[in-house]
Amino acid sequence: MTTINCRACHKIHTNFESTDWVLSTVSKVPCYVKPTDTIANMGKGNLCVNCHQALSINPVDTATGDSIKVTNRFGSHYGPQVSVLIGRGGCESILDTGGRPTTIPAAVLTNGCIQCHVNVLDGKNHTFKPSKAVVTAAILSIGNIDTVKAAVNTLMLELRDTLVVRKILKKDSSAVIGVSLVPGAAGRSESKKVAGACCNYLMAAEDESRGIHNFLYVKWLLEKSLAALKE
Ligand code: HEC
Ligand code: HEC
Ligand code: HEC
Repeated sequence: MTTINCRACHKIHTNFESTDWVLSTVSKVPCYVKPTDTIANMGKGNLCVNCHQALSINPVDTATGDSIKVTNRFGSHYGPQVSVLIGRGGCESILDTGGRPTTIPAAVLTNGCIQCHVNVLDGKNHTFKPSKAVVTAAILSIGNIDTVKAAVNTLMLELRDTLVVRKILKKDSSAVIGVSLVPGAAGRSESKKVAGACCNYLMAAEDESRGIHNFLYVKWLLEKSLAALKE
């Protein structure tokens, strides 16, 4: 990934005064992978939506037949945080869609990413490290930070190990998310269930919040992916 600087988010050195720090954009952003889906208006958080959503749709949902060719750039490609937050982009065609969660806590959507990652401390937190108090308040209706992360972590480990046994993923300590496709997986034909479950695992892993961005959706995707592999 490219390192980002102030200009990624601010209009800089236009007037040489405080207005130089206005955000470069706060306009609503379309959903790249599925333009018919709308991404909620997150106010200033729209800024982040420009870069932190999935760029490629999971290929499994649109493929015909029972198998699919795995490619090098498999998965939602990259930074699927927004996609997870709005509950879109997972591979659902291989899943039993019963019990699919439909709601996102309203508090999470207000200003989206900004409220937890920026508007804390003096309102200018540029470490982008989320505030525990703000996050706790935002997800109050679904649980607390530790139980959410622990539950998602357990499911992710189980799904990862299943996908390792199915020889599509391998543990890889040099990869940011700790796994990569096994050598030779790209180019191979794979059952849609294994490929789809792999996409869902990668989306949860690349989101990097261990379910905080949308606990109900991520938990559902992981549980149903595991169930699909056991059928
Ligand atoms: C990832 C996006 C992002 C990057 C990169 C970024 N900022 Fe910000 N910055 C923000 C957001 C969001 C706010 C809060 C704006 C608000 O709440 O109105 C902010 C606020 C500020 C403010 C306060 C503005 C005011 O009106 O009070 C200053 C000053 C600032 N940033 C400077 C910088 C500098 C200097 C850099 C580079 C080192 C930088 N920012 C990089 C997103 C970013
Ligand atoms: C211009 C594109 C762009 C915008 C706009 C943007 N980001 Fe990012 N962000 C990135 C990239 C690229 C990285 C990975 C940077 C790296 O690895 O050096 C990143 C990394 C991050 C990280 C992880 C930082 C870390 O230490 O690992 C967080 C958190 C984050 N962004 C939050 C935000 C938030 C919140 C906003 C909106 C205020 C935002 N980003 C806006 C492109 C962007
Ligand atoms: C409800 C509060 C909340 C909201 C809203 C939120 N995040 Fe997060 N985010 C978190 C928490 C908590 C973590 C996990 C941090 C940790 O594990 O230390 C996290 C993790 C991340 C990471 C990984 C950071 C890292 O250091 O590895 C990125 C990138 C990120 N969020 C970006 C975003 C973006 C982009 C949005 C908007 C779509 C967003 N977040 C919305 C709370 C939030």
